[in-house]
Amino acid sequence: MGIRLFDFLTGLSGALDLISPEVVGHHKRVAYAAVRLARALDLPRAERTDLYVAGLLHDVGGFSIQSRLAALQFEADGVRHAERGYRLLRKNPLLESVAVLVRHHHTPFMHFDGLAPDMAAPERKLFLANVLCLADRLDVLFIRQGLNEPWEIVRLLRGLSGTLFDPAVLEGLSELAASERFWADMALSDPTHALTDSPDMFDERGMTRAQLMAASTAFSQIIDFRSRFTATHTRGVAETAVCLAEKAGFSVPDLDQMRLAGNLHDLGKLAVPSEILNKPGPLDPEDLAIMRRHPELGRAILGSVPGLEQVTDWASQHHEQPGGKGYPGGLSGVSLSLGSRILTTADVFTALREDRPYRAGMSKDDTLRVLEDMAAHSALDPLITSLVREHHAEVNERRMAAQTLAASEFREFYTGLEQ
Ligand SMILES: [Fe+2]
Ligand SMILES: [Fe+2]
Ligand SMILES: [Fe+2]
Repeated sequence: MGIRLFDFLTGLSGALDLISPEVVGHHKRVAYAAVRLARALDLPRAERTDLYVAGLLHDVGGFSIQSRLAALQFEADGVRHAERGYRLLRKNPLLESVAVLVRHHHTPFMHFDGLAPDMAAPERKLFLANVLCLADRLDVLFIRQGLNEPWEIVRLLRGLSGTLFDPAVLEGLSELAASERFWADMALSDPTHALTDSPDMFDERGMTRAQLMAASTAFSQIIDFRSRFTATHTRGVAETAVCLAEKAGFSVPDLDQMRLAGNLHDLGKLAVPSEILNKPGPLDPEDLAIMRRHPELGRAILGSVPGLEQVTDWASQHHEQPGGKGYPGGLSGVSLSLGSRILTTADVFTALREDRPYRAGMSKDDTLRVLEDMAAHSALDPLITSLVREHHAEVNERRMAAQTLAASEFREFYTGLEQ
């Protein structure tokens, strides 16, 4: 599909900052600052690349508003979100080299020598994690604490030499401190543009098909693992949608697009704080309004990634209905593509069939009845619901297998961690 790792991750990292206006741009600015530090320190290209990717994702384990805002306090103790972030990234072949950096982005330099055996990491990785730490704290001071004078920030950071920061890492600061361009870029919500046009800046990491699928699966976990109520939902939807698209005769490249759309369809839910996602019982109108923004937010994020145009359309229309009573657009008729109709049906089917912690999934007969009733009221496409009936055994088996795998990954993710 010809999608670049940078475009994909730079775009999707914006989704991590939807959770609160107070964190907008944080991931991109930290990525930018980390790379500028790396350049000042003369780090090789592969390490610059890792620092950029780690910067884009470093607070990915901060699931709640509370933990994200806490990470913006200068004295943050970020152990829990750093560990979660590490666990989200470590299994992914594209992202595993940055997982350790994320794990230690709040670990003080003075603790490096005394790490518990299960937290140990190669010295070089800890050095890079400390570069990331400096970039992160720099953004926190610059944006949050209202310290606009670069010299004041630099003095404060240098004062932590040997405690929070490795003195060798702090050596990168002088060059940055003197650069007006650096501070002007840091005042932007997205300074990454200043980096991506320098061709020698990074390893050219285009993504293979398998890498793209793996990266989208990583994001499906980032979306789902924030709440145990829906911990396997996305993977069930993606598998169901791909299976139905096969039955509808989609080409192989289009099936890939459907897998991506399935994995990313609820991306905008990263804007919904886990405090709301985990509320037992029905949501009040305010929470519901926040929840219902997710398709639009997903469109804005996915639409910023070159090459994801069709995925964006399919994914962002999964709450539309053929009769025009869906949201956000109230689209109907020809403006709803076959791909989005399939995804919508897969979403409803999975939601009905899957077990939730507070209730068992619906039976086959009841599910088919609900789907067909919805189709009769133009809430779903009758052609797709008839595909579900015709191929129910296969569709449901594949959905279950996908969700069983996701459930075991979820258990592994939380082993030894508080939820
Ligand atoms: Fe953090
Ligand atoms: Fe951060
Ligand atoms: Fe949704």
